[in-house]
Amino acid sequence: MNTELISFHTTATSVSEALETRHSIREYLPKRIPNEILHRVFSKALRTPSWKNSQPWKVHIVNGNKREELSKELIQTAREFPPRPETSWPESYPSDAKRRMFDLGMKIYEAAGIDRKDKDARNEFMLRNFDFFGAPTAVFITTKFELNYFVGIDLGCFLQSVLLLAREEGLGTCAQASLGSFPDVVRNSLELPEEEKVILGLSIGYPKPNSELNSYHTPRESSEDLLRFY
Ligand SMILES: Cc1cc2nc3c(=O)[nH]c(=O)nc-3n(C[C@H](O)[C@H](O)[C@H](O)COP(=O)(O)O)c2cc1C
Repeated sequence: MNTELISFHTTATSVSEALETRHSIREYLPKRIPNEILHRVFSKALRTPSWKNSQPWKVHIVNGNKREELSKELIQTAREFPPRPETSWPESYPSDAKRRMFDLGMKIYEAAGIDRKDKDARNEFMLRNFDFFGAPTAVFITTKFELNYFVGIDLGCFLQSVLLLAREEGLGTCAQASLGSFPDVVRNSLELPEEEKVILGLSIGYPKPNSELNSYHTPRESSEDLLRFY
């Protein structure tokens, strides 16, 4: 299937199609997602498996005025402070992963029309994370569980469920670790208890058509390199 040709306004009707046609969307239409659709996506995602059925997630779906208010606070904070996530982000990677990450940055800046040497422009682009790339809905995934590897896996499984279910509704998404950069700001704004840790989030909405940014599709390594059958 040629994913380049698939419009994001179509809906995926199989898991394979959802997987093949999903990619990160970083420009959205300012069109509100009907509540029943949001409800459907996130309620269905609650079927996600987890370690001993522990279900470590809580999910905060933020629309309207609250979304605007929180976006402003996050942008203001990100302009002044470096990220202070609940757990430190990884710092070292194998060299092949470094290459992929570098390539991703270059391609995205190119698609966004940003000169990679222009640090101010790169920084402004980074801040778009906190405007949820213009999506009408921002989502924060939190947990009260002690953070460990398996809680992370469970939350990752939940995230993937949402990304794929969104495709069934013709919606685009972008998973965002950056939305866990300032957990205290999110906690205050959403009046969450102190023990609720804000791990990451996602933007969700209707993809802007004919967007250069949205047209970039990241490559994957080959199955020959990554899969071994016995
Ligand atoms: C856990 C996780 C965190 C991510 N954080 C961000 C982020 O903060 N900002 C962003 O623009 N993209 C973020 N992404 C999107 C990745 O860059 C993207 O999934 C990857 O490059 C593969 O591209 P694709 O989603 O278009 O297939 C994140 C993805 C995942 C799974």
